[in-house]
Amino acid sequence: MAGQTILEAKNIYKSFSGVPVLQDVHFEVKAGEVHALMGENGAGKSTLIKIITGVYSKDEGQIYWEGQPVEINTYQDCQKLGVACIYQELSVIPPLTVAQNVFLGREPRKGKIIDYKKMNEMTQELIDKYQFPLKPTTVVENLGIGQRQLIEILKGLSQNSKLLIMDEPTASLSGKEAEMLFKIIQTLRSEGVSIIYISHRLEEVYMLSDRLTILRDGKNAAVLEKDEIIPAKVIETMIGKVVDESAGSKKMLHSDENAEVRLDVRNLTDKTDRYRNISFQVHRGEILGLGGLIGAGRTEVVRAIFGVDKAESGEVYLDGEKLECYPKASIKNGIGFVPEDRRNQGFIPLLSTTRNVALTNYDIVEKKGRAISDASELEMSKRAIEAIDIRPNDPDKQVGVMSGGNQQKVVLGKWLMRDLKLLIVDEPTAGIDVGAKDEIYGILEDLAKQGVAVIVVTSDLQELLRVSHRILVMRKGDIVKEFKNVEVTQSMVLAAGQGVEEEA
Ligand SMILES: Nc1ncnc2c1ncn2[C@@H]1O[C@H](COP(=O)(O)OP(=O)(O)OP(=O)(O)O)[C@@H](O)[C@H]1O
Ligand SMILES: [Mg+2]
Repeated sequence: MAGQTILEAKNIYKSFSGVPVLQDVHFEVKAGEVHALMGENGAGKSTLIKIITGVYSKDEGQIYWEGQPVEINTYQDCQKLGVACIYQELSVIPPLTVAQNVFLGREPRKGKIIDYKKMNEMTQELIDKYQFPLKPTTVVENLGIGQRQLIEILKGLSQNSKLLIMDEPTASLSGKEAEMLFKIIQTLRSEGVSIIYISHRLEEVYMLSDRLTILRDGKNAAVLEKDEIIPAKVIETMIGKVVDESAGSKKMLHSDENAEVRLDVRNLTDKTDRYRNISFQVHRGEILGLGGLIGAGRTEVVRAIFGVDKAESGEVYLDGEKLECYPKASIKNGIGFVPEDRRNQGFIPLLSTTRNVALTNYDIVEKKGRAISDASELEMSKRAIEAIDIRPNDPDKQVGVMSGGNQQKVVLGKWLMRDLKLLIVDEPTAGIDVGAKDEIYGILEDLAKQGVAVIVVTSDLQELLRVSHRILVMRKGDIVKEFKNVEVTQSMVLAAGQGVEEEA
């Protein structure tokens, strides 16, 4: 049962360069409750969390901890109070091991020297306790984004906090890993730990939360008690329109097998055996969904097709022409690619929206002599902003400081400026709010109608069912199941991904 108020933020104001982002925000968390914080992309959720944890300073307002006013200026300050945070932007350091990341800055020592053996043992204990598919000594570089997110979560859990803040913890997790996290959250709650939970996956919010605060345009829109959480009402309060979220538990798949083959992948095999003998086709106008658990090899396969990584063997054909798989050639051949790890692979944080959009499009931006025409570049970025409703609609805004969901829109938007034959999107709506998700599905559907072949890799089963015309499920590096022209449910896809057959 939830108890006393543990954290309270009162009258919080924050502006960036004169633009107000939080205005008179009030937020309160009780002991032992899971308190969800919701709002559309750019509503100010992450900013509020960063103010609470000392990453940003507030312009006005006061934070209280267990009834006492406190000043939190650094992350250390908040750790001292017993607050840990899993931020939306993963902070794991790739060249270090899992254990080194979990205990970064808090390494166990023997005298002055770091006790690696102890550190690995402590990490293994945590891994066993929470049953995460990780090893203490793996170098993070070799892990996918889902596993990196699990490390970030492990790091948060290892601090034995009174309040644990999670900003989009499941954005890159598949159903199975997310389920594990939900169990952990429920256990923590029963131990009296408070949790602030931010997510755009509405189902999980409804399932987990005891209370829910909604922000809209940087202001309080509502605080709802558990029995007041009515999905349609929440969505409307958040985004001001009604979106049908129930679509997507069941679907009749339909793909046009007479359409020309656009992409033909033959016997693609990885050097390190993360996938093998992968063969499949995508037709013109078809949206092919790739389902499966984290580590099933889906991301690795699509990266090899686009050419970010090289496959050991196998061939890829586009409209009958054999492809040289490397990114520059792929772009020229009309292939677009939205990677799952947008922060490291999708955009350049210090550059503006305009520059980021232009980056993959310099071949089609107008030139004056050899120089790029600024006007043409700007015109293109305005079109991208318009096409996918990037907010703020400021072409000069640095992408690195935009909200998580809007960063994702920039990464997708730049491909919409080109004539594509094939678009590959890996977790296209990770961190995207419910209204914008619907718009993105609409965009993918429009592209398909124009004859573009689309591959969607997604861990979100609802999304997989919502957008796919046909579904392939991967498991441990093999394609194990195809769903086509049948009625399919989320549990059928899940069962295939986990290697158990289930009848409809
Ligand atoms: N460091 C910064 N400099 C300038 N503007 C910023 C900075 N950080 C955030 N903003 C702006 O503040 C607004 C709120 O962003 P915030 O990241 O808090 O949104 P959010 O609710 O977390 O959205 P999302 O669901 O997309 O993660 C956005 O318009 C964003 O561009
Ligand atoms: Mg955010």
